[in-house]
Amino acid sequence: MDSKLWEGRLHSGLSGAASDYNSSIRVDSRMYREDILGSLAHAQMLCETGIISSEDNAAIQGGLSAILDDITSGRLAVSPEAEDIHTFIEAELTRRIGDPGKKLHTARSRNDQVATDVRLYLRGQSESIISLLVKLARVLTDKAEQYSDAIMPGYTHLQRAQPVSFAQQLLAYAQMFLRDIGRTNDAKARMNRCPLGAGALAGTSFPIDRELTSRLLGFDAPAANSIDAVSDRDFCVEMACALSLIMTHLSRLSEELILWSSWEFRFIELADEYSTGSSIMPQKKNPDLAELTRGKTGRVNGNLISLLTMLKGLPLAYNKDMQEDKEAIFDSFDTVLAALTVCAPILETMAVNTGSMRRAATQGFINATDAADYLAAKGVPFRDAYKAVGSLVKYLISEGKTLESAELSDYKRFCPAFESDVYGFVSLDACLKRRNSLGGTSPEQVALQINAVRAELAKYE
Ligand code: ARG
Repeated sequence: MDSKLWEGRLHSGLSGAASDYNSSIRVDSRMYREDILGSLAHAQMLCETGIISSEDNAAIQGGLSAILDDITSGRLAVSPEAEDIHTFIEAELTRRIGDPGKKLHTARSRNDQVATDVRLYLRGQSESIISLLVKLARVLTDKAEQYSDAIMPGYTHLQRAQPVSFAQQLLAYAQMFLRDIGRTNDAKARMNRCPLGAGALAGTSFPIDRELTSRLLGFDAPAANSIDAVSDRDFCVEMACALSLIMTHLSRLSEELILWSSWEFRFIELADEYSTGSSIMPQKKNPDLAELTRGKTGRVNGNLISLLTMLKGLPLAYNKDMQEDKEAIFDSFDTVLAALTVCAPILETMAVNTGSMRRAATQGFINATDAADYLAAKGVPFRDAYKAVGSLVKYLISEGKTLESAELSDYKRFCPAFESDVYGFVSLDACLKRRNSLGGTSPEQVALQINAVRAELAKYE
């Protein structure tokens, strides 16, 4: 039997298996620093409002700081027997400093305490996510600049559609990650309210100063409603959603890396340090890391659904179900941090095979839209032009020719408006250069995009 902090009302602690089942220490011990910072601020506030004496506060401050040092340096191990990190630290404090330690929990509950700790922890984690996203977007932008004249097929339905620059494709991902930075920042700003002082749910009769506690912990303001303060896990859901989108973007990028590095595409070759071999097939070079990112996305999305499902039927205020929040949100952070950490160097070190890209763009009638545009520019109604080029393409396929290798007589069979300048018009470089509409794939637009992305990223330096 385990003696717990609620002894008084209850005769005994939980029995073995039940105690393990009830405990969250395995998951929440990683918040030891946040728990101690929260307690330091709470004690300071209790002292400044005259609720505890300066002597008691000094003992608490000294005791908590020593515990923080000891856990950080490994001198003090968090006991796996404890119910949770809050209980462990309070018990350790009291073991070290005696009675003043028992005063720390005045005007506080574990409900406002845990809500505060998780917010502080996620605030730090989201800062790490943002800096990794900035780094990744920078790698994409640098690659885009390096390969600004590489042409590849752009796809719809995974069928060759129109020529695009490789840079344009990379910059599409940079835009996704820029939005992810914004989304993570927004969620972080909304989360930055201090629950401390809400007590178990109804506030407290002590003359506390919630503004002071909030300020000491770097929150923007105290949470406005005590019941909401201890019940709200929107911030976990919002973060989990932002993380799911980051992972989804990483997964789509990974899928392209997997396709592009296949022997069928050969657009890129991943560096050996970021590839794996096969235990049986000597020729294999596998993109395992990208596949793992694609695979782990399922779990990160699952965490979002777990959180929403955990919350949806809960009456106000705190319910123990909410202890499950940490397992889900911490796993999402861990997974996305790891995926972001490996993604940037994979891109940085990959070799780009611009020849294969260009070859793939030269076959497959990727410039058929341009041939139709050519006719439309000469006054042929676009629908007629579209039909003529469609028939031309069908004919050339049967002849084993392309728009580049066809004779002018082949063209004229389908529309007399074709002249010899059509060859210049359908050349890949010309096709790209002409797509100069805002945000288009022309070299001029790509250069503008590179500058715009860099200017946006500079805000996060
Ligand atoms: N370990 C708990 C959690 O993570 C702390 C809050 C416990 N509060 C309570 N009333 N049992 O949610």
